Amino acid sequence: MLKKLTPLVAVATVLSFGISAFAEDTPMEKEMSAMNKAYKALKKSIEDPAQKAENLKFIAEIKKTNDAASKMEPKTLADQPAAAKAAYLEKFKASMADFGKHVEALEAAVNAGNTAAAKAEFDKLNDLKKKGHEEFKKD
Ligand code: HEM
Repeated sequence: MLKKLTPLVAVATVLSFGISAFAEDTPMEKEMSAMNKAYKALKKSIEDPAQKAENLKFIAEIKKTNDAASKMEPKTLADQPAAAKAAYLEKFKASMADFGKHVEALEAAVNAGNTAAAKAEFDKLNDLKKKGHEEFKKD
């Protein structure tokens, strides 16, 4: 019985390693997942000025993840022809920097207690996310 099971266990072990390697997040995916968590949490409270401190905390997290991701390379960079790589990366960094400016505008609006401006900047971040993903993210 044990003799029959041993190869099965070996196969299962190799498979599970293979699957976990396949599912592993890139450093940028990790930052983006953290950004996603903060952005989703912020959605619930961004129009409530009474939750200013909480909102500023989520915005700080978005800022932190954006800063970190800005220094990384998107997976799609590998698909670009060699001659186009540098320009592609510059464009990515510029988009991330633009996103960062709007995160700061969002922070300023929340600090000023301007709920309408905060909501507008919050929605703008969603537009930039869609644009950024269309341009730089696979699938
Ligand atoms: C509210 C803003 C944003 C949110 C909530 C967000 C969320 C996410 C999520 C959930 C993923 C998938 C992570 C995973 O697979 O584990 C992702 C990936 C990605 N996002 Fe964003 N994102 C935002 C803004 C942006 C912007 C502005 C850009 C570019 C200008 C961008 C570029 C990318 C890229 C390139 C990936 C793929 C990661 C890789 O290549 O390794 N994202 N994002």
